[in-house]
Amino acid sequence: MGLTSGMGLDFAAAYDALNADDHDYRFYAGLADEVGAGRVLDLGCGTGTLARLLASRGRTAVGIDPDPEMLRVARGKPGAEQVDWRLGRSDLADDDSADFAVMAGHVAQVFRTGEEESTRDVLAFRDAAELVRSVEEAGFAVERRYGFWDRSPLTDGSREIVLVVR
Ligand SMILES: C[S@@+](CC[C@H](N)C(=O)[O-])C[C@H]1O[C@@H](n2cnc3c(N)ncnc32)[C@H](O)[C@@H]1O
Repeated sequence: MGLTSGMGLDFAAAYDALNADDHDYRFYAGLADEVGAGRVLDLGCGTGTLARLLASRGRTAVGIDPDPEMLRVARGKPGAEQVDWRLGRSDLADDDSADFAVMAGHVAQVFRTGEEESTRDVLAFRDAAELVRSVEEAGFAVERRYGFWDRSPLTDGSREIVLVVR
């Protein structure tokens, strides 16, 4: 999404330092263990921290991202060779290629309704009902709703909206 341009900041290189918290990565890794995931898809994998973590546990992992700079950083990390990195969007995911798929780090907020690309960083703050509606419209069933990575219940005051869908 071109976040490196126009901001005077190498966003991809700085991303990991700016997002040092790993609550969410540990949540996803625990969930993958719990459901016995063998083939994982990290859509919007960014700099690839989660994809590498999931792959390091003996899983097949695909990481997809449309930003070449983010993938460049991901590919340069230790263990990167264990992940199948793909530059693009969800259409690059093979049918039935994963039994566990994630959009971590608020990827859903950077999806836009049209195909227009912009250097402005626009985030969509959907409420829980709207998020549930959009994943159900995409054919998923919502199994669990959490309000944070510690699996606390989702309430109106929750810091996060975490949906586990099938
Ligand atoms: C905030 S970063 C999150 C990166 C990573 N998932 C994480 O947890 O650190 C959002 C990522 O979504 C990617 N992205 C933007 N539009 C996308 C799209 N249509 N499909 C997949 N990924 C997209 C961006 O390139 C960026 O790497």
